[in-house]
Amino acid sequence: MIYKDLAEIKLMVKILVKDERYPHVEGTAKFAKALAKIHNLDQTIAEFMAYAHDLFRDISYEKLFKISKVYSIEITSHDLTNPILLHGKVAAEFVKRRFKINDSDILTGIAFHTSGYKDLGIYGKVLFLADSLEETRTYPNVNKLRELAFKDIEVAYFEVLRNKIIYALSRDLLILPESVESWNNLIMKKKGGVI
Ligand SMILES: [Fe+2]
Ligand SMILES: [Fe+2]
Repeated sequence: MIYKDLAEIKLMVKILVKDERYPHVEGTAKFAKALAKIHNLDQTIAEFMAYAHDLFRDISYEKLFKISKVYSIEITSHDLTNPILLHGKVAAEFVKRRFKINDSDILTGIAFHTSGYKDLGIYGKVLFLADSLEETRTYPNVNKLRELAFKDIEVAYFEVLRNKIIYALSRDLLILPESVESWNNLIMKKKGGVI
């Protein structure tokens, strides 16, 4: 990751992301950078991923489908019902091609920043946390989760994932299959079982 790439992705955000969303993207970058610093990770990588993650969030569904086709991204039944789910996968494929990034931690992290993922690497977890905990987010236990993220990325990932699943359950929303898989994976590691 070179500094030039970061400058370029920042410019792209200004062009592609709606003004109303910009504070969220900047907040995510700020939080990701701070998390990387405290956990001795590469701050430029964390910042780059944050600027890239919602690059295609404000693109029309029609264009998301078209770009996905061009990029040969597999469109799942969930993507068909909720085309916005494609924005992460499209962003990952875009940075892969534009910046010649092949690091699976970076690419998977960007692709599944909303749902989480069973084998998410440390940078993917940093992005997942920053996306949910950045300064413009407001929900009941956000401050506790922020503190947790600065203490322990793994525990914070588990708790934020739990929070997302509970949120979906309580509001009759779709629980993304990647979230379920990631949750089950963590439970199996903890030697948890079924009800
Ligand atoms: Fe997003
Ligand atoms: Fe986001």
